Amino acid sequence: MDIDRRADIDTSSPRDVWLQRRTSLDSRDRSGVWRFREFLPFTDDTTIVSLGEGNTPLYDAPRSADYCRLPQLTLKHQGCNPTGSFKDTGMTVAVTQARKLGARLVVCASTGNTAASLAAYAARADLLCAILVPTGQVSHAKLAQALDYGAKVFEVEGNFDTCMKQIRELAEDESVYLVNSINPFRIEGQKTVAFELAEQLEWRVPDHLVVPGGNLGNSSAFGKGFRELLESGLIETQPKITVVQAEGAAPFARFYSDAERESFVNDEHPQTLASAIKIGAPVSWQKAWRAVRETGGSVITVSEQEIADAKAIIGRDGIGCEPASATTVAGIRKLVAQNEIKEHETVVAVLTGHVLKDTDYVIKYHSQNLIAPDGTQLSAKFASAPIRIQSAKSVVDFLK
Ligand code: F0G
Repeated sequence: MDIDRRADIDTSSPRDVWLQRRTSLDSRDRSGVWRFREFLPFTDDTTIVSLGEGNTPLYDAPRSADYCRLPQLTLKHQGCNPTGSFKDTGMTVAVTQARKLGARLVVCASTGNTAASLAAYAARADLLCAILVPTGQVSHAKLAQALDYGAKVFEVEGNFDTCMKQIRELAEDESVYLVNSINPFRIEGQKTVAFELAEQLEWRVPDHLVVPGGNLGNSSAFGKGFRELLESGLIETQPKITVVQAEGAAPFARFYSDAERESFVNDEHPQTLASAIKIGAPVSWQKAWRAVRETGGSVITVSEQEIADAKAIIGRDGIGCEPASATTVAGIRKLVAQNEIKEHETVVAVLTGHVLKDTDYVIKYHSQNLIAPDGTQLSAKFASAPIRIQSAKSVVDFLK
């Protein structure tokens, strides 16, 4: 189900209205999502549930650009949202809708970030919140957030896809409101990131937008956002949307490469250290496929080694991100090498989660101890492990 935006509002000069709102103290104007409310399916008297999401930075990343062999690369850091991931831009809208409907209980299945985000927004809205996660497969930081925000977390034997299937069954009960990205209100919120990005680039969209792909809600949302901007005449072209998956969890990339494309075949046993995107049965693949097809983008895969190295390089730019987000820079490097991205083209990579979301991964990488799911030890070319010293005098020797 898609949602039509409100038809009753004059959008003749929305760019000016949105810019003016940047100086306002109204909580709706301060939110990087609700600032674009003319394109959201709510009336002005709606009480919103917001944590001041959106308004995330756009970084110039010279080391990452160099690594990809591009003169310039721009990173849109969605990890700078209130709970540290892009999920907040969708959750503010989905939880606002849940409260409007009078839901008693909000639920989701999650690899961790949706859990953290829903738990926070449910707490703000004073709603009961239940979350299903795969046992032992969620990073400590994400789990800690969900617990601290007061959600009831249930651990399920199996993987994310098992959790997703079970939560959909639970949500057949009408008093239970499901906020995974099959919920169209999540997509409505996340689509505003396309608006914010276009505004930050003075309404000149990049040639390429590169996003990680898991359950495929994010790529669907960007597709919808840019489509609506184009239809409204606010932009003249759309960026090519490219989705990057981890090699071990890549049903969408397989579908893309299949010349017949007769059916979508799930991955029964998805595997990747980028736990956020360890997903074999993405629920939003059809909408994501539309985004890729309509914009002339592509779907590619990157290896565990490529993800680890790209992540370390993004760190060296002073930016950092979680492993799933680093698929983007790894993917761009590959696309440049294959001449799919040309040197003169503009590229934006979307970093979906904050570097502190998975510190176990970071420490293992830098101490040369990162083991891929197939048992191979990954080499850490850009490692910088802590060094034990007796006195600060040794620092100078180490830096020689
Ligand atoms: N990056 C991060 C950091 C994520 O947490 C996710 C998804 C993705 C990328 C993929 O986005 O699913 O829209 O294609 N995380 C979900 C979760 C599944 O439960 O937190 P997608």
